[in-house]
Amino acid sequence: MNLFDKNKGAPRFIDSLQTGENVSWFYRLQEIVKKKTKNGDDFLDLTLMDKTGRLPAKVWNNVGEYHKLLQAGGIYRISGEIRDYRGKKQITVTHLRAIVSGDPGFDPGDFNETPPFDSEALLAEAFSLLDGNLSDPHLRRLSELFKEEYGPVFSQAYGAQKIHHAFAGGLLQHTHSLLKMILAIAPQYELDKELLLIGALFHDIGKTAEFKTQPALETTLAGGLLGHLVISLKIFLEMKNKVADFPEPLSIRIQHLIVSHHGEKEYGSPEVPKTKEAYLLHLLDLLDSRLNIFSEQLKNGDAQKLFSDFNQALGTRILLNK
Ligand SMILES: [Fe+2]
Ligand SMILES: [Fe+2]
Repeated sequence: MNLFDKNKGAPRFIDSLQTGENVSWFYRLQEIVKKKTKNGDDFLDLTLMDKTGRLPAKVWNNVGEYHKLLQAGGIYRISGEIRDYRGKKQITVTHLRAIVSGDPGFDPGDFNETPPFDSEALLAEAFSLLDGNLSDPHLRRLSELFKEEYGPVFSQAYGAQKIHHAFAGGLLQHTHSLLKMILAIAPQYELDKELLLIGALFHDIGKTAEFKTQPALETTLAGGLLGHLVISLKIFLEMKNKVADFPEPLSIRIQHLIVSHHGEKEYGSPEVPKTKEAYLLHLLDLLDSRLNIFSEQLKNGDAQKLFSDFNQALGTRILLNK
């Protein structure tokens, strides 16, 4: 039986795949890693994508042949079974091949990932929050410059390669959440709202240069050697230098928010938070990333199960079936 002859025309987008079904469709290879099982056998750990999302894949057979054929960024016809692994869907590949010209149903437009929400509206809302709450002229100018230079990149950027907000628009969604939470919490503790808003805006902007997602997901040279905290700091300093007479103490306080937002030296922050604002930004950053992991688990988890498998980042299994 030739699996490729079945379901020729109907697209099998990632967000519609169900556990237990067999699928044969076109997916773009975003990442490929050759690994070894406990027994020492080779297997391939893949990440596939289309415009609706990403799907992990495992290749257990013909590993050598497929490893030679596959190139990150390429589009392939992939056949296999959708299974549940640790609360997430993945495909166990039985067969794959390169696309050929005239492949029925193939549409190159199916592989441009777009944010799962109206990113232009969210971007506009983020900047209207900043505009309505920043009174310091230096910070207002900085926010305008950010919008001009990073607006379009920012609204399409991934929030991370893995773990949380790992999708187009993820960085914007994460940053927008932080802005809203800051506005709700800062008055309660008499915190410097304006400092916090600018710190949140810049804190992860370095992620736009830490890794690339096209044609394949890959850490950049700067990302691997510097990391996004340092790149964010650099972007802030370059932009701040374009604002006339930017006060140095204010600049240092913003820099502190950027470099301390991971909270601990072992998590990549060269300094731990030493101001109330820096402490809040760190906790909000953690809160938003953790809650996003919950949301992703609930979205991708097996609806038949009561609890997810153990989630490394959350340190527990979570309740799936309410
Ligand atoms: Fe970060
Ligand atoms: Fe963050």
